[in-house]
Amino acid sequence: MELFIDSADVAELRAAAASGLIDGVTTNPSLIAKSGRKMKEAIAEICSILPGPVSAEAVATDVEGMLNEGRYLAKIAANVVVKLPLTENGLRACKTLSGEGIKVNVTLCFSAVQALLAAKAGAYFISPFIGRLDDNGADGMELIREIRQIYDNYGFATKILAASIRTANHVKDAALAGADCATIPAKTFAALYKHILTDAGVEAFLKDWKSTGQSIL
Ligand code: E4P
Repeated sequence: MELFIDSADVAELRAAAASGLIDGVTTNPSLIAKSGRKMKEAIAEICSILPGPVSAEAVATDVEGMLNEGRYLAKIAANVVVKLPLTENGLRACKTLSGEGIKVNVTLCFSAVQALLAAKAGAYFISPFIGRLDDNGADGMELIREIRQIYDNYGFATKILAASIRTANHVKDAALAGADCATIPAKTFAALYKHILTDAGVEAFLKDWKSTGQSIL
């Protein structure tokens, strides 16, 4: 499973990238706003930190505007993936940009039929929002399972990028459900390392080792 960090904060992206375990980055207009940076500068710097796919989201709502913004964003760096919303206009723009060889991440997906349309429009990634579905009384993980089955039934190559991930369990369940990738906040990524029994085990082993008076080297 590919792990992406959902952030536009270059300091936390550099720290996460140092793990050697991060495959890409997703941003959205809210995250760019939170960073306080200019979109172009922030995306260019993020692309230089991580060579994997970096999603940059268009904000136009009409097809022409999405195409113009998408082509502009794609020119910032070779690893930019243009993010478009799962609207009728978003999918029209997705079809055109994909036809031009620009990778598109179709975002704000909340149903399996939306994901089917995105795959037909040539999306490189589909981003189902797990956490926001759970917040609204639905089962976000069930959506991942449904999309996996539909894509496998018809051989769609679109990658399932589980998004709006809130917990380590979300990452585990998305992996079990067959998501190709998960995009997670840096804080949640850090939590993936953690288990109370690992910490307790390390502490106990070190205590016993100290009692031997030995050193390995
Ligand atoms: C993904 O591409 C989105 O930026 C992100 O996962 C949204 O997460 P949120 O629902 O926690 O804002």
